[in-house]
Amino acid sequence: MGRSLAAGHHVCLGADSQALRAHGLLGVLETPDAGSQSGRGSRCGLWRTWRRPCAHCLGGKPPPDPSGRAQHQGLHGPGRRHRGPGRGPPGRLTPGVAPCLLFGPSNNQKEAGGPAVAKGGTPKAVFHAHPFPKRPTLRVSQPPDFRSGNDPRMKDPHKSAPLTVAVAGLGTVGVGTLRVLSDQAALLARRAGRPIVVTAVSARDHNRDRGIDLSPYTWFTDPVTMAREAEADVVVELIGGSEGAARATVEAALEAGRHVVTANKALLAHHGLALAQKAEAADLGLFYEAAVAGGIPIIKALREGLAANEIRSVQGILNGTCNYILTTMRETGRDFDDVLVEAQDLGYAEADPSFDIDGIDAAHKLTLLASLAFRQPIDLAAVSVQGIRHLSALDIRFAGELGYRIKLLATGERRPEGVDCRVAPVMVPLDSPLAPVEGVYNAVVTEGDFVGRSVFQGRGAGAGPTASAVVADLVDLACGRFAPTLGVAVADLEQVGTNAAPCAPAERYYVRLTVLDRPGVFADIAGILRDEHVSMESILQHDRDPGETVPVVMILHETDETPLARAVSRLASLETVVAPPRVIRIGRC
Ligand SMILES: NC(=O)c1ccc[n+]([C@@H]2O[C@H](COP(=O)([O-])OP(=O)(O)OC[C@H]3O[C@@H](n4cnc5c(N)ncnc54)[C@H](OP(=O)(O)O)[C@@H]3O)[C@@H](O)[C@H]2O)c1
Repeated sequence: MGRSLAAGHHVCLGADSQALRAHGLLGVLETPDAGSQSGRGSRCGLWRTWRRPCAHCLGGKPPPDPSGRAQHQGLHGPGRRHRGPGRGPPGRLTPGVAPCLLFGPSNNQKEAGGPAVAKGGTPKAVFHAHPFPKRPTLRVSQPPDFRSGNDPRMKDPHKSAPLTVAVAGLGTVGVGTLRVLSDQAALLARRAGRPIVVTAVSARDHNRDRGIDLSPYTWFTDPVTMAREAEADVVVELIGGSEGAARATVEAALEAGRHVVTANKALLAHHGLALAQKAEAADLGLFYEAAVAGGIPIIKALREGLAANEIRSVQGILNGTCNYILTTMRETGRDFDDVLVEAQDLGYAEADPSFDIDGIDAAHKLTLLASLAFRQPIDLAAVSVQGIRHLSALDIRFAGELGYRIKLLATGERRPEGVDCRVAPVMVPLDSPLAPVEGVYNAVVTEGDFVGRSVFQGRGAGAGPTASAVVADLVDLACGRFAPTLGVAVADLEQVGTNAAPCAPAERYYVRLTVLDRPGVFADIAGILRDEHVSMESILQHDRDPGETVPVVMILHETDETPLARAVSRLASLETVVAPPRVIRIGRC
């Protein structure tokens, strides 16, 4: 193991810390590293995962002793090691960083009930040896160098210095973020290894009562000025919109050498690639966990957790407003317009709901998910988008009778010819993991070649869930967990191309016709389907009302979109079909 450490290899060791000591681990740690310029010690640090940072480390004050060593070690008690300020951030589990080295539970751990203990009483101490990287070449794939005072991304060379944050936008998510950072300050400092401190805020109206005390923060009415001038390592953009103040703020922050965290899917769907390039060129982080599916950590899952897989498909319920409307329509039998008004009254839908109900918001989110899942830029303009305006209570009722739920699904699939991205209402089988996702909840289902299917579900919007995701990004930045915006460097993105309809596979469809109840109608319908080589699986007609209109529902076998479109167009032109046919794809999920 000593040789591995000296060679700069990662080493993960077993559970018993006392045995490690008995085998000379301390000696290993102090073995001079051949690659170290200073020769002050091994470039490999070790720590165990359940260690908590000591109060001294969190306090951020350097020890009185200029060397920082002997006196600080004393704070951890006998037999414990600390690398001292300036050489590794205490309490941080991150590549290139050497936190406190504690052997045996710290006083803090004892107070808190000690570390996790395995059966038989053995502490679950897991040690990792990590190489300290040489000075980063400011590549985006490398973590920031918190150890040196020269890294432009961190103002303070001391690892326990706070991560300073400026927040642009103090609406639902901005205020929620300030609340989480304040209410969870101690917990976050422990998890991040250092405090996360808001220094500046910006919104349009300084006098508005936002229900929180803004006096501790420097106020900026112009978020761009704040992005350039505030004392901040990170600018959090929570203004919204793909252009204007939001875009200018993010660009100014990156130009000023500050990391960016944003919840703005519209901005990233339109300008994500350019902003990723800008961030990468400056070796800065551009984080956006909150931009998709609110509190569900799907960005991190796709970027990191599923990194070993080729993702074949990603699909999800990404718009809570639409899901609330569809759920309420199903539960109450009421029609779309009626439920939309209720959603607006409850604050689930905007005064102008078109972004949500026409599928644009879901398309923005799908663009981000698919870019990350398939490691390639997705062209928003190539995403086929259909909303839920045209859905009727009748379709929802028929879907239930046939064993389906109608959901607005955002689907990205990787095929040899390219990536197919679409947003549309889909009939989801009742045994699908997406069927029971109701109300304002979101869910995402991914298919990876090794992992298979993974399902993520949770609250997709609102102050708490969205702020939770914003703050998770801040904790990652504070820890130096630093990933490229789209999972790989921009130059390594694939360029397969986004194309929708031409490569879409054959699917099953639900088709509802409103027909005059006359003899011969079914013969006409069947003739058109036969001519267009579209095959019918079943047909459903409940009511008979001779001379009046009745709904006729057909389930079609797998068919390509082109013959289907031709058949539907011909059906619509029949004299006996008195309303536009309704066509809904039947999902496979
Ligand atoms: N709300 C959610 O549940 C949710 C969920 C996921 C993602 N998001 C995303 O999070 C972002 C923020 O959403 P939100 O719901 O918090 O929005 P919001 O409530 O409308 O708040 C927007 C904030 O931005 C400020 N602002 C607007 N234009 C500005 C300008 N030109 N200069 C300075 N400040 C300006 C507003 O200032 P004033 O208050 O002074 O008017 C307001 O504080 C959006 O990108 C949204 O898509 C929201």
